[in-house]
Amino acid sequence: MSGLTCSNYSDFPHNISYEKISSTKCLDHCVRLKIHFSPINPADINMMEGKYLLQPELPFVCGNEGVAEVIECGRSVTQLCVGDFVICPFQNQDSWEGFWKQEMVILEDYCIPFPEFFSLEQASMLSVNPVTAYLLLTQFVSLKPGDVIIQNLANSSVGRWVIHLAKLMGVKTINTVRSSDVVGELKGIGADSVIVEKDRFSANIVQKGQCKLALNGVGGSSSREIAKCLAPYGTMVTYGAMSKEPVSLGNALLIFQNINCTGFNRSRWINETSMDDVKSVFKSLFELMPSFFEIPIYDIFPLNQYENAIGAQLRGGRKGKVLFECC
Ligand SMILES: NC(=O)c1ccc[n+]([C@@H]2O[C@H](COP(=O)([O-])OP(=O)(O)OC[C@H]3O[C@@H](n4cnc5c(N)ncnc54)[C@H](OP(=O)(O)O)[C@@H]3O)[C@@H](O)[C@H]2O)c1
Repeated sequence: MSGLTCSNYSDFPHNISYEKISSTKCLDHCVRLKIHFSPINPADINMMEGKYLLQPELPFVCGNEGVAEVIECGRSVTQLCVGDFVICPFQNQDSWEGFWKQEMVILEDYCIPFPEFFSLEQASMLSVNPVTAYLLLTQFVSLKPGDVIIQNLANSSVGRWVIHLAKLMGVKTINTVRSSDVVGELKGIGADSVIVEKDRFSANIVQKGQCKLALNGVGGSSSREIAKCLAPYGTMVTYGAMSKEPVSLGNALLIFQNINCTGFNRSRWINETSMDDVKSVFKSLFELMPSFFEIPIYDIFPLNQYENAIGAQLRGGRKGKVLFECC
């Protein structure tokens, strides 16, 4: 078997190589999985650069998430059968496997089945972004139908999931984007309002001062403007930093409006949450979804074309996710 290995943190992306990997015996409580698809997420890039919260011991196989098929069951496996498809969202510092390879052997307990209406390509992206969007919407403020929230980075995969899940919850979304090209598309998936970011864009937002929650995946002036839309005692949650600029915030929002600023990271959440509680969150998330929801895919590459795949991921103007087809 072969996979993509990160062997040091200098000179990214030249620190990545396609190498032979030895396979492991499938022990009693384990399943052998054939990995079908795995996306490249911003966190994968951060990890290959050595800049993420979670950095497995070098050398490690890259890839935070994916979709896989059970091809062998250990003698004590009770819940899964050969031919089942699963996601495995439990990777962390101490139990890292890496999805950018053809097979993995993993404890049965680490696997979660998913609704059948997802294609394998879409299911490969279910472990990180949808659950992040769901937790951002449910863990920080109590939202009820009719409440209004604001988010930047609305055209990202997380942003699209926020739009979709908020709609299912009856919550209205104000969404900010960098380009007017995507306004119609985001309205098509349920965005109530889509604003193209310009200088001091909060001035154009009718619901300024009414939002219970602001979701910040950008930082810099974008975070300052969405925070201005919060109601008194509203909460801004920072989960991403795509502009690479520090979060910016007007002093008056803290002093006069008493807004709360906090942050979220899914890998930390996985680390600090019991397996049963994580599974129960995925169950609630899947129960909320009546049907298929699709994240655009830009291109799919075999693992041995990783240089092209990473190049496509790093290029600006990409519309959708870059995926690896692993087997
Ligand atoms: N904290 C967590 O637990 C957690 C979990 C999942 C994801 N995330 C973070 O969420 C963010 C989005 O992830 P994703 O997988 O949804 O990404 P994605 O689908 O690959 O989309 C990336 C987005 O970043 C935008 N972007 C790129 N450069 C930018 C810049 N300089 N300024 C503003 N926007 C920029 C792009 O905007 P255009 O559409 O305009 O090109 C695109 O919408 C990342 O920062 C990721 O690390 C965090």
